[in-house]
Amino acid sequence: MIIAVDGPTASGKGTIAKALGRHFGLPHMDTGLLYRAVGYQVALNGGDPDSEADALAACNFPEELLGHPDLRSEATGGLASRVSVHPAVRAALLARQRDYAALPGGAVLDGRDIGTVICPAAEVKLFVTASVEARALRRWSEMQQRGESHTLAEIEADLRKRDERDRTRATAPLVAAADAVVLDTSELDKDQAIAAAIEAVNAATGQQPCP
Ligand code: C5P
Repeated sequence: MIIAVDGPTASGKGTIAKALGRHFGLPHMDTGLLYRAVGYQVALNGGDPDSEADALAACNFPEELLGHPDLRSEATGGLASRVSVHPAVRAALLARQRDYAALPGGAVLDGRDIGTVICPAAEVKLFVTASVEARALRRWSEMQQRGESHTLAEIEADLRKRDERDRTRATAPLVAAADAVVLDTSELDKDQAIAAAIEAVNAATGQQPCP
């Protein structure tokens, strides 16, 4: 079974996708990490993330980079959002994601275009979303815990900018697939969001929930 989980930054899609992988015994790929690695590698190369040629050259990032803690930073997220608009970058990362989805038994992939472009035939598609205010608050709390100091207003402004870039790009924009189940996590805590996602997968596959 392939489960596609898409949605905007800080909607909870990563947490949900990981939990679905554990629950259904499927491997999980965070595809945002690939774009983050490209963005980070462009910076390491001294290149320009808005240049398609520079961003494409960075798609050859070394495998070890995927484990680098700086990939999780807000700054790298911003670079990822900029390199991800280039069609050549998206094309360069496509086979890697499709190969993962083709693992025997299936997989859970989370990103922006899994249900629309990478795995349009996925058995289950979830589009996880939340209000920008709820997402900014979550991101702010995470950053407080990591000791990164940004104001809530700065984070909200950055999220709005990234949402706008992800939603309006010409290639593979962030949009719910027509057959996706939309899950709004604005009013849900982590456990409630995971439970709702498991229920949505069971409903989509016709399975009975565990007693
Ligand atoms: O999900 P995450 O915040 O790690 O993604 C970072 C950026 O990578 C996103 O803002 C988006 O621009 C890009 N991305 C994408 N397609 C994906 C995953 C991420 O364009 N499948």
